[in-house]
Amino acid sequence: MSTVSDLQNRALLEIAESADLQALDDLRVRYLGKKGEITAQLKSLGSMEPEQRRSFGQAVNAARDALNQAIGERRQALEAAALEQKLLREKVDVTLPGRGERRGGLHPVTMAMERAIGIFTKLGFDVATGPEVEDDHYNFESLNFPPHHPARAMHDTFYFGDGRLLRTHTSPVQIRVMEQSDPPYRIIAPGKVYRSDSDQTHTPMFHQIEGLLVGRGVSMADLKGVLHTFVNAFFERSLTMRFRPSYFPFTEPSAEVDIGWEKDDGSEPGWLEILGCGMVHPNVLRGCDVDPEEYTGYAFGMGIERLAMLRYGVTDLRQFFDNDLEFLKQFH
Ligand code: FA5
Ligand code: MG
Repeated sequence: MSTVSDLQNRALLEIAESADLQALDDLRVRYLGKKGEITAQLKSLGSMEPEQRRSFGQAVNAARDALNQAIGERRQALEAAALEQKLLREKVDVTLPGRGERRGGLHPVTMAMERAIGIFTKLGFDVATGPEVEDDHYNFESLNFPPHHPARAMHDTFYFGDGRLLRTHTSPVQIRVMEQSDPPYRIIAPGKVYRSDSDQTHTPMFHQIEGLLVGRGVSMADLKGVLHTFVNAFFERSLTMRFRPSYFPFTEPSAEVDIGWEKDDGSEPGWLEILGCGMVHPNVLRGCDVDPEEYTGYAFGMGIERLAMLRYGVTDLRQFFDNDLEFLKQFH
């Protein structure tokens, strides 16, 4: 009898002290399982005298019930504690400030490019494209640059050494368009161009939009009209604009367009050249099987970074390509 009550007291103590559900279950098996200590006591009843068996049986049964109940209560307590721990661990403090997210945005040159394309598209121009890797024929010769012509030197060309070169302007796309179909033509050709050039208003890679309009009776007045319309739409404010006589082998007459430019370094206001233009040279038309007696046309090539500088008040063109986030963020 004293064995049973010792057993019961020891088990109750261990149950009360069990640290977690696994330890508790181990105790249940140890005392109440098939080979458990209480179960062994019950098995020993068979070899007892009837008198002894009765009272001993009652004591063992009572001990078993007591342990069962204690285990059940301990399990509930441990489960509640485990849940409490879990809730504490997984707590979300909804009052903490959010981490926030940084918004990206378009590069100012992309914005200027898209803006310019949008304006010309509304004016009825289609978009054409050409390769950035060109050859002498498309970049120069078909544009009426004779071999050894000094105007080639103005372009600071990057050569691959095998006859290929990085196009120095978007004008080769004029030739590709005229070769591929018959007049009239009304296209713009936006894209990247390359020159070995770097200062406040020049970078080695920059963007141009070429324009080409060829038809019957097209004149220099049409060219001036479309460029005025473009500049007014692009800048949305009145700027001083001048046409300055110039020279390109592929246009005659030729002009460059400048915009009045106030630098913020205190120096005198000056002019910033935004584009070159002119009436397509008869030699260029003839080379593309377009009869210059029947068709005339104008062309222009504008620098997108220059337009972006003026629109966004940037005084050094190279900043567009420094990838300085503090600089770029201003344009979002
Ligand atoms: C040309 O490239 C001619 N193809 C333009 C043209 C087209 C004339 C059709 C007639 C008919 P120019 O080299 O001037 O011309 O360059 C045109 C524009 O590109 C310049 O007015 C300027 O706005 C821009 N530009 C030229 N070089 C750079 C450079 N290194 N960095 C940034 N912009 C430049
Ligand atoms: Mg120029």
